[in-house]
Amino acid sequence: MRWRHLPSFTRLHTPSHAYNTYVMIDVIDAPFIRSAGLSDLSAIRQQQRVCFGADAYYWWTLLGLLLTPGTVSLKALQNNKLVGFIAAEANPFDGCGWIVTVGVLPEFQGYGFGAALLQAAERQLNPARMRLTVRVGNQRALRLYERLGYRQCGTRPRYYADGEDGWVMEKSCAAETRA
Ligand SMILES: CC(C)(COP(=O)(O)OP(=O)(O)OC[C@H]1O[C@@H](n2cnc3c(N)ncnc32)[C@H](O)[C@@H]1OP(=O)(O)O)[C@@H](O)C(=O)NCCC(=O)NCCS
Repeated sequence: MRWRHLPSFTRLHTPSHAYNTYVMIDVIDAPFIRSAGLSDLSAIRQQQRVCFGADAYYWWTLLGLLLTPGTVSLKALQNNKLVGFIAAEANPFDGCGWIVTVGVLPEFQGYGFGAALLQAAERQLNPARMRLTVRVGNQRALRLYERLGYRQCGTRPRYYADGEDGWVMEKSCAAETRA
């Protein structure tokens, strides 16, 4: 049972739990998704430690993401607390948008924050194609990405520090998010 009582949380999903039956909302206007800024750095560092452990980005990398013009940095809020973070940027070499990092605090996972952050980043960056890299064993993230339209388009052998392979996944955003 995924539905837990989360006071004052806006439900993103229909109660049927059926996939592909999401309530149509404009995630850019979702009040719980906001632009992240320098004042969020400490909370984002904590989110990175909790979500990614040894894979967490260093604080200066996060600072760079928050300061780089054109990088989309969004936070998910619950009762004014940062519970999720995403950063995405355009890569000038391959012309794609890339999800740099996305993570939701464990106690807030399964409520739709991850999907909302991804869709908001896609819409704000507005690339023709969005890509990301994910651990081959990260089943939860893989299911979410596939549900949102991402498909494997490459493999990065031993991409992660512990030797695990990464899958590169890509989504065409042309029809869905571009103006
Ligand atoms: C991957 C991650 C970002 C997903 O965030 P999330 O907020 O849990 O994502 P969502 O809630 O949008 O969707 C996740 C699942 O919950 C389900 N779900 C979401 N809200 C639901 C609801 N209200 N009722 C029932 N199911 C729900 C979704 O269908 C999905 O199901 P699945 O696991 O079977 O695919 C999160 O698990 C995370 O931070 N993991 C650790 C860091 C990480 O691995 N990041 C990705 C690196 S590439």
